[in-house]
Amino acid sequence: MIFLFCVGVSDDLHVAATLEHTYDVRKRVFETVTEPRGLFMSRSAAYVAEGKIETHEVEPIEPKDGEVRVRVAFVGLCGTDLHIYHGHMDKRVTKPLIFGHEMSGTVEAVGKGVQGWAPGDAVTVMPLKWDGTCAACHAGYHYICQHLTFIGIDSPGALQELWTVPASTLVRLPAGLDLRTAALAEPTAVAVHDVRRSGLQTGDKAVVLGGGPIGLLIACVARDAGADVMVVELDAGRRKLAASLGFATADPAGDVADAVVEWTGGNGAEVVFEVSGAAAPVALATALAKVRGTIVVVAIHSAPREVNLQQIFWKELTIVGARVYQLSDFERAVDLLAREVIPAGRIITRSVPLEETAEALSQLAKGEAMKVLVDVASTSQEK
Ligand SMILES: NC(=O)c1ccc[n+]([C@@H]2O[C@H](COP(=O)([O-])OP(=O)(O)OC[C@H]3O[C@@H](n4cnc5c(N)ncnc54)[C@H](O)[C@@H]3O)[C@@H](O)[C@H]2O)c1
Ligand SMILES: [Zn+2]
Ligand SMILES: [Zn+2]
Repeated sequence: MIFLFCVGVSDDLHVAATLEHTYDVRKRVFETVTEPRGLFMSRSAAYVAEGKIETHEVEPIEPKDGEVRVRVAFVGLCGTDLHIYHGHMDKRVTKPLIFGHEMSGTVEAVGKGVQGWAPGDAVTVMPLKWDGTCAACHAGYHYICQHLTFIGIDSPGALQELWTVPASTLVRLPAGLDLRTAALAEPTAVAVHDVRRSGLQTGDKAVVLGGGPIGLLIACVARDAGADVMVVELDAGRRKLAASLGFATADPAGDVADAVVEWTGGNGAEVVFEVSGAAAPVALATALAKVRGTIVVVAIHSAPREVNLQQIFWKELTIVGARVYQLSDFERAVDLLAREVIPAGRIITRSVPLEETAEALSQLAKGEAMKVLVDVASTSQEK
């Protein structure tokens, strides 16, 4: 299936278009709207150039057949958004790009043919689009489609008050789950998928290399699955947070291999999650794993890394990749958040109004925050 978008932005701009055309239309609206804020305008934040984010009002897109329009509440910022902001993804993104893919909100309007959703429903969005035709899709692995596109990178994302998305991307939020907490659904779904891919069993020891947001969420999900978890993290503040959440911790400046030997009674860990993206933990992972243990590669490595194949052979280790999530991972993530298995209040450092998105990204870049949310509905004046 090829995804076609209908972008209805004004009478003379009714265009059935491919993704590329969608960008063109968005750009026109983005640049030409100068009227005072009307009832139906939508504030948005977009990446426009390296290190530059602009907030604008854009005309919301009418939801067409099979689409819904969501009133966005909170958007979480992550390392991918930071890469976009720093210009590292300029070859991939089309500017201006309204980015953001970790979110929560409520359905505001539904297009024709949409069933099961009504205005007011609390939702999050699984931001993936697959073609349905490639070998991966045919094998049932839609989420790692050979032509996978990611909403918020390859098409407009959630940093806008009113966001139109395919209804098929919606995931329902239960009553009682507050929207601030629910904004962690996407990264939590990553963690759920990683733990599922690890084959982790109750009573296992698991080492998480890299205690950023994803590493910490993996630690929480692994603990809920019955594992004893150690977080190895470079940053003292992040280590302290992991320790305060009840995890064993280790500083990579010390002898982590020795610490893990002692912590596991000389056996090594059944599961090692590589979530740092750095070279040294990759080299370490094979040393930390138990005989027949599993190493899960979660981080996105920007360069090939050295791996000790001798250790893999000697201990009959398994290395598995874990990329994004399936719908079932998302649903489980929502459930874990609703059951307060994930200490959302401790992981979310703060929330900022839309106009402070750039400052929030700079704070993230300096390592001064764990998770920052953009409170899309609020304005600087209200804060
Ligand atoms: N598999 C997926 O689909 C998926 C989804 C989201 C993110 N990711 C990737 O997962 C990784 C983690 O994401 P994040 O948002 O938590 O990023 P992050 O950069 O906030 O976290 C990485 C952590 O690793 C730590 N670190 C760096 N070098 C280390 C070392 N030598 N030893 C121990 N710790 C070290 C850093 O201090 C940091 O806290 C990133 O590479 C990200 O791109 C993958
Ligand atoms: Zn993300
Ligand atoms: Zn496919």
